[in-house]
Amino acid sequence: MNDDLGARVRGDFPILARRVNGHDLHYLDSGASSQRPAPVIDAMDDYYRRHHANIHRGAHTLGDEATQMYEDARARVASFLHARDPAEVVFTKNVTEALNLVAKAWGGANLGPGDRIVCSTMEHHANIVPWFQVAAQTGAHVEWIPLTDDGLLDMDAAARLIDGAAVVACTATSNVLGTITPIAEVCRLAAEAGALSVVDAAQLVPHMGADVEAIGCDVLGFTGHKVCGPTGIGVLWGRRELLDAMPPFLGGGEMIADVTFDGFTPAPVPLKFEAGTMPIAEAVGLHAAIDYVDAIGFDAIRAHEVELLRYAFDRLDASFGDKITVHGPRDLGVRSGIVSFTLGDVHPHDLATILDQHGVAIRAGHHCAKPLMSHLGVMATARASFYLYSNRADVDALVDGLEHALALFEI
Ligand SMILES: Cc1ncc(COP(=O)(O)O)c(C=O)c1O
Repeated sequence: MNDDLGARVRGDFPILARRVNGHDLHYLDSGASSQRPAPVIDAMDDYYRRHHANIHRGAHTLGDEATQMYEDARARVASFLHARDPAEVVFTKNVTEALNLVAKAWGGANLGPGDRIVCSTMEHHANIVPWFQVAAQTGAHVEWIPLTDDGLLDMDAAARLIDGAAVVACTATSNVLGTITPIAEVCRLAAEAGALSVVDAAQLVPHMGADVEAIGCDVLGFTGHKVCGPTGIGVLWGRRELLDAMPPFLGGGEMIADVTFDGFTPAPVPLKFEAGTMPIAEAVGLHAAIDYVDAIGFDAIRAHEVELLRYAFDRLDASFGDKITVHGPRDLGVRSGIVSFTLGDVHPHDLATILDQHGVAIRAGHHCAKPLMSHLGVMATARASFYLYSNRADVDALVDGLEHALALFEI
């Protein structure tokens, strides 16, 4: 393996030059939020310095420029996702809001008593809680696709559960196990059953991109800050006819065609779902982020992450043997650059604290996936997650820090 990609892009990310607690920063928390390259920071800076005004209201040049930049960002997201029509792209605050939008707007209008919402056991709370909320409102209920011992979706059980379901809400990549699910097959089963397929692509898009036609889903969401973009912006993509038929989610300015003393008429999609002043600079930043990762290419990003995963597994196995439990599939063909683990009896939060003293940033906790934690029989895990700028030195620092932690706690 070589660290070519990591070495080539690291200089683009100013924050990676930082030192933390007297050490070089080893940022292994990209699953929670990625870092931003200079082109993204510069694009937002330029927007604020030269172009900012409110959008879609413009009677002046700045308003027109800002509107154009915002709509260019929408068109860029559409081409990135291989969508047929930019109107199928709705900007939201994050993927959580995108999934809430679908659950509340579509679910509120279409679900009823006895309807089944099928979620996978490895969902993030963002693709669970909105469905519980709408289930409580409508009389529908949530059922769970179980996992195999390897941390894969049990596809036999999935086929049985999806048959006759109203909604299938499934992640394309687990933020805990790293499992890359057979999401196109899940969506095919959903389509056969006449169920709405809702894909949480928060952990897929940054690492592999997404082609909504190839996946065959009805709606798909992702979040900007995990794909080198800013916080405060997410995307909901939905089939045009579905979005057209869905009632609006939030009400207010910008999402209406007309308001009278008697009521309102919503604007056409996508504005129907974009109430109030939107994250304009963030859309500009997301545009720059997509240009950035696309120019590097997902084949290169994926190959780099698989090589790092292989290196990490080798080093962790060699150093800790039976003392470490790494959750999720060992088959790197179906695993994203996420390594969730427990080490001996050391609490994951203690591991994270000790690693931080070595400049190594990881995540510890339930990762907003408590049903999955309960399935795994743990309260929490430690999680190291890679991205295009990660390198072998990050893995080495992780292993050194863990050795130190083990020595501290096991005497
Ligand atoms: C799989 C998955 N879904 C949803 C989310 C929620 O993302 P956000 O907080 O940006 O809405 C995350 C973030 O950790 C995630 O990993």
